[in-house]
Amino acid sequence: MRNTILSVLFVITLLCGSLVYFVPQIGTIILLSISVILSLIAIYDSFQTKHSLLRAFPLVARLRWLFEEERDKIQQYFIEDNLNGTPINREKRSVVYQRAKLQKDTVPFGTQHNVYAKGYEFVKHSLFPKNHHDIAGERVIFGSDKCSQKYNGSIINISAMSFGSLSKNAIMALNQGAKMANFAHNTGEGGISPYHLQGGDLIFQVGTGYFGAGKSVDGKRVFDDVIFKENAIRPEVKMIEIKFSQGAKPGHGGILPAKKNTPEIAKIRAVEPGTQVDSPPSHSAFLNFESMITFIQKVRDLSEGKPVGIKFCVGNNEEIEEMFKAFSKANNYPDFISIDGGEGGTGAAPMEFTNYIGTPLVEGLVFINKLLIKYNLKNQIKIIAAGKAIDAFDIIKLLALGADSIGMARSFMLSLGCIQARECNLDTCPVGVATQDPDLVKALVVEKKNVRVKNYHNKTITAVKEMIAAMGVDSIADVKSNQIFRRRKDEEVVSLEEVYK
Ligand SMILES: Cc1cc2nc3c(=O)[nH]c(=O)nc-3n(C[C@H](O)[C@H](O)[C@H](O)COP(=O)(O)O)c2cc1C
Ligand code: SF4
Repeated sequence: MRNTILSVLFVITLLCGSLVYFVPQIGTIILLSISVILSLIAIYDSFQTKHSLLRAFPLVARLRWLFEEERDKIQQYFIEDNLNGTPINREKRSVVYQRAKLQKDTVPFGTQHNVYAKGYEFVKHSLFPKNHHDIAGERVIFGSDKCSQKYNGSIINISAMSFGSLSKNAIMALNQGAKMANFAHNTGEGGISPYHLQGGDLIFQVGTGYFGAGKSVDGKRVFDDVIFKENAIRPEVKMIEIKFSQGAKPGHGGILPAKKNTPEIAKIRAVEPGTQVDSPPSHSAFLNFESMITFIQKVRDLSEGKPVGIKFCVGNNEEIEEMFKAFSKANNYPDFISIDGGEGGTGAAPMEFTNYIGTPLVEGLVFINKLLIKYNLKNQIKIIAAGKAIDAFDIIKLLALGADSIGMARSFMLSLGCIQARECNLDTCPVGVATQDPDLVKALVVEKKNVRVKNYHNKTITAVKEMIAAMGVDSIADVKSNQIFRRRKDEEVVSLEEVYK
């Protein structure tokens, strides 16, 4: 094959050379130049020793790499149908774009879902639907009896994503959108940047790297009361979230790729610019549940009584029940628990952690809800659930299973214009959402995208109210798991109450 390719190129170059000799025009000269360049590349390929495929198939093998590189795009543009794109299918992506741009979000002709397939889920409606304008329950009060500055928040908020994983323009647009529609924006574990301070409510996340809440001592990241307090008492900060883990990489700790660690980000995080920043897998501020509860109270006191929550993806069930026993024993607890599903998103994570570690959201949520009931803490601790919630059905299902509010990360990225190119870890995000490359960041126009963030939030709340109204329920807070149904077998449809007992 190698000799055939080289011979063909040699013949073509010879023909082009003769053509130039007899017809010395610009067109023939260009043809000759192209064939000479291709021949030189082919000769180089056939003699290099790094890639065996190129040695065997000089020049031609390069097409394989080109297609490999572009396969996600080819898949998305030419192959995937409405229901099979991953991690977020086209139907869901489209509804975010439509709601963010206030475009028509109706579908023609009928559902594309197979309503007889195993796993199909739906809600049952009432013969006496309500008027969706009258539906209550779009706000929720966060704060147990331990906290003095309760927060009246939306049932939909932006889940944690740091400045670092997202661009400054993305952070500004998210925060401004949150301000416009009166909902909250979680800072992510990268600390509070000036781009977070656009007037929108903040949930200040404290991760194991204590960025914005600590410092490095002898190469180890430690919590610092003064640094934390300075940020926690800002008026924009409405709640504090202590992060244990996220569903995409439980037990791993955050990863900021070196390319995205610009001098500005490094300054905010107090780390070395241009290096990969890995947060430790666990906290240095506490070592067991007793000291964790003491830490929660300390953080609550330092923030002058704001609600303090913990975020994790459900792992070892016995261990988590031990934590609830510790809450009971100490008669002290967090004000909210953010549960992330194993299906959760990330800027960058190791493959095995993303695919094989962490309980999926629904099972994690049901488990935590049962513990709250068992330990009589349901009226003290609110649940924020995050994991591919995009449309009104996703939200209602999670609320019915015990969530009080929903955290959304990737759907808000989509509202900013994310096209699911899945290059968030490469610093090449083509739409300026998940990159620090100044030229790409410019692509995201804050003044246009902030409105889309607002629109997506508000239109989704309206869609939730419309579904709740159709179910004949008065308040979003009243939806229950016996109102959501799943086809378990061919002829068997059961409520989620029955599935999860
Ligand atoms: C780009 C990106 C960055 C993220 N950064 C953080 C983070 O700093 N801290 C955290 O707790 N979770 C982080 N997450 C996880 C989200 O907050 C969320 O829990 C998860 O993606 C599930 O929500 P989703 O399915 O709506 O995306 C990140 C997710 C994405 C997509
Ligand atoms: S467009 Fe691609 S790289 Fe950019 S945020 Fe979306 S998935 Fe990540």
